[in-house]
Amino acid sequence: MTDNAITQQQLDELNWFHEFDFANGLKARSRNEAANRPFFQVHRSFIKNCLEKIDFNGKTVIEVGCWDGYFSFLAEELGAKSVIATDDYSQNYGSSKAFKIAKQLKKSKVNLQANTSVYDLSHKIQGKFDIILFLGVYYHLHSPYSAVAQLRSLCHPNSLVVVEGDCLQDEENASAKLTLDDPHVSKFIPTTKLLKDMLHSCYFKVEAMAFLSNFDVSDAIASVKRDALFEKLRTSVDRKKQYSQQTTEKLHKENHDRVLIVAKPFWGENQYHCYRPPFGLDRYDTRTKY
Ligand SMILES: C[S@@+](CC[C@H](N)C(=O)[O-])C[C@H]1O[C@@H](n2cnc3c(N)ncnc32)[C@H](O)[C@@H]1O
Repeated sequence: MTDNAITQQQLDELNWFHEFDFANGLKARSRNEAANRPFFQVHRSFIKNCLEKIDFNGKTVIEVGCWDGYFSFLAEELGAKSVIATDDYSQNYGSSKAFKIAKQLKKSKVNLQANTSVYDLSHKIQGKFDIILFLGVYYHLHSPYSAVAQLRSLCHPNSLVVVEGDCLQDEENASAKLTLDDPHVSKFIPTTKLLKDMLHSCYFKVEAMAFLSNFDVSDAIASVKRDALFEKLRTSVDRKKQYSQQTTEKLHKENHDRVLIVAKPFWGENQYHCYRPPFGLDRYDTRTKY
């Protein structure tokens, strides 16, 4: 299909997660984002702003859990030499169709590897990468620790891994809020201490951390149209009607933040393990006996 053959109606029929304004005037609009546009605009600016501080020039990049590819395309625009975007589309309400159309309209070379669960990376993905993006995924997972261990298999000594998601800002206590009975909320919200511990336990050293609450939101807010703020009010009233009183109370009690962590792999002794590290992580440990 040529770009000219793609119509706005075709875009509107797809379930987009991200919003795109393509060069030819076509737009992808997300029902998820429409429900909470001011938050998504600020949140996207936060991640974009952090990623723009990383040198992507000439780098090999992989994104794990890319959905329709917004941040993979951004990595390419920031100068990456090659980008592989992966996702397990059984874990979202969209499909790879949106990614493929966005790729075509953006004339992108990002290579999609669909049907790739984070849990299968070590045997499905060949090669090591300069930058690994893991944005907005870990808190959806039943087994976040084993997912982080899988990310480790994509690293060479100079790799950077960027992990972003829900967290409870607490540098002292390692704990997590685990919710399995409500499909509308995050499954796993760790404290920052626990997230850092998980990374360390999987042989990653945290280099930098940024919180959405510390992000200067004024620019992002300025780009939010008045209509969008009214839309947010309207949808939050609708949403209140949808959820049971109990769930709404639970949602409101959730007082978590978003964190973006940049980490680097290390090899050597890891004092977090007294026995052989699980998930094949022992290959990063220089001890011969545990
Ligand atoms: C909230 S979206 C984040 C999308 C994108 N990374 C971003 O930051 O905008 C969560 C993504 O995680 C993906 N995901 C969930 N479970 C996964 C799994 N087991 N393996 C790979 N991707 C997964 C979903 O399919 C979805 O694309």
